[in-house]
Amino acid sequence: MKNVAILASGSGSNAENIIKHFSGSKDVHIPFVLCNKKDAFVHERAKSLGVKSMTFSKNELENGEILNLLKRENIDFIVLAGFLLKIPAEWVEAFQNRIVNIHPALLPKFGGKGMYGMRVHEAVVANGEKESGITIHYVNEVYDSGAIIFQAKCDVLPTDSPEDVANKVHALEYEHFPRVIEEVLNKL
Ligand code: GAR
Repeated sequence: MKNVAILASGSGSNAENIIKHFSGSKDVHIPFVLCNKKDAFVHERAKSLGVKSMTFSKNELENGEILNLLKRENIDFIVLAGFLLKIPAEWVEAFQNRIVNIHPALLPKFGGKGMYGMRVHEAVVANGEKESGITIHYVNEVYDSGAIIFQAKCDVLPTDSPEDVANKVHALEYEHFPRVIEEVLNKL
């Protein structure tokens, strides 16, 4: 059995989708969701799915407390599902190739600090892009620059609003993220 922790910062629709995907699995257990915002909707989603959720501060992320919790709880793998803080270097070292993130664009385009959620889709539309998509990648010390595991594309029409792009990208996330996580876990 592999223990997987999900980290999220906001709505948590990807976290919910991943929890549902692995519910009843004999190979993957998701003991809790960790979130850096106490009011984030992901807490409600976790609760309604019967998964524990906890809030932590940026300080606890950076001073090693949360890393110690993950080790104590025998976490094997970490999924960033809309998690917006930078992962400390000690985490990357402790969980080599065991932290994955999803980014709502085709990296290396539209990545880096400050590029998250709707900001990404606004930039894609403002730039007149003809396509966007998702990137699932390993996490290293630099925002959005770890080795790419998987990408999928969607069209961006001239008439699309950032919300339209967000909807297309979310659909790709829901379709692919749990499956790609499962594939990566199977290779551990
Ligand atoms: C997702 O679209 C995810 O790709 C993005 O935040 C959204 C979270 O939605 N992540 C980033 O922008 C990371 N840089 P959710 O909370 O409903 O899963």
